[in-house]
Amino acid sequence: MSFVHEPVLVQQVLSYLVHEPEGVYIDCTVGGGGHAGAILDLLAPNGFLLGIDADQDALAATAARLRVYGERVRLVKNNFRYLDEIWHDSGWPAPQGILFDLGVSSPQLDQKERGFSYHEDAPLDMRMDGEQPVTAATLVNNLTERELAHIIRKYGEERWSARIAQFIVQHRQREPINTTLQLVDVIKAAIPVAARRRGPHPARRTFQALRIAVNDELRALDEALQAAKRILASGGRLCVISFHSLEDRIVKHTFRAWARQGKVTILTKKPVTPAQAEIEVNPRSRSAKLRAVERS
Ligand SMILES: C[S@@+](CC[C@H](N)C(=O)[O-])C[C@H]1O[C@@H](n2cnc3c(N)ncnc32)[C@H](O)[C@@H]1O
Repeated sequence: MSFVHEPVLVQQVLSYLVHEPEGVYIDCTVGGGGHAGAILDLLAPNGFLLGIDADQDALAATAARLRVYGERVRLVKNNFRYLDEIWHDSGWPAPQGILFDLGVSSPQLDQKERGFSYHEDAPLDMRMDGEQPVTAATLVNNLTERELAHIIRKYGEERWSARIAQFIVQHRQREPINTTLQLVDVIKAAIPVAARRRGPHPARRTFQALRIAVNDELRALDEALQAAKRILASGGRLCVISFHSLEDRIVKHTFRAWARQGKVTILTKKPVTPAQAEIEVNPRSRSAKLRAVERS
């Protein structure tokens, strides 16, 4: 299977992350291996990379792509929230750099059977880790109306959350909602026509919310950032690329709190964003924001 993901902000990531060519680097979202390969190319022969991803397909493709680096690369299938244990099990020294490039990869979005896309009919899945038991269909068909409304409001920042939850519950009393386009139809019915004419696709916010809930993304990010701070070498760098405001807010507030405690120096006063030229070539880079800190 081909697995092509165009990495974003590559030069900017390298300039903040790779300050010491001989150390250990951890790519917590190794995905298609684009950033990982670029990092390895900058490292000395005794520079190592530990790559983590929850997605088995991504890791299989990336293992083939990074084979040329031999023993200098180790790949682990796991959730990055277990970063302490994963690094500890490697037996490698404290990392000089840790990278997170959050969210889903292009192949995950494009393989319709993963259920991330509201444009294609597919099972309502949205799991990054296919071995995890809870899918988006599990949540949509089992949570209470209140729980659904809460998730859609909090993780989707959707103003029509209460109506969407109400329409979901009404629909599932007739038949379960098992596919992406079934859910899109329910969402469209719930949002008044006038409100649907403006802005992005009407299902975008609800799909984002369910994806975050299925993968427990915000708690995993919070736990992983704390782990990264614990294990980074003194002088080591932590870089995070986020793609929506909920993630970016967590990263920004966490970095500021650490800076106040004297644990880190913030290297990016404002988030680094892609130049217009990059957005034109890779439209998915449009909402990327990179923040970086150096461990004291
Ligand atoms: C935007 S892609 C990364 C692309 C990568 N930087 C590259 O150059 O190809 C995000 C990746 O992070 C993985 N991911 C997201 N959340 C994760 C988590 N909590 N634990 C482990 N992997 C995660 C996804 O499976 C996906 O492959």
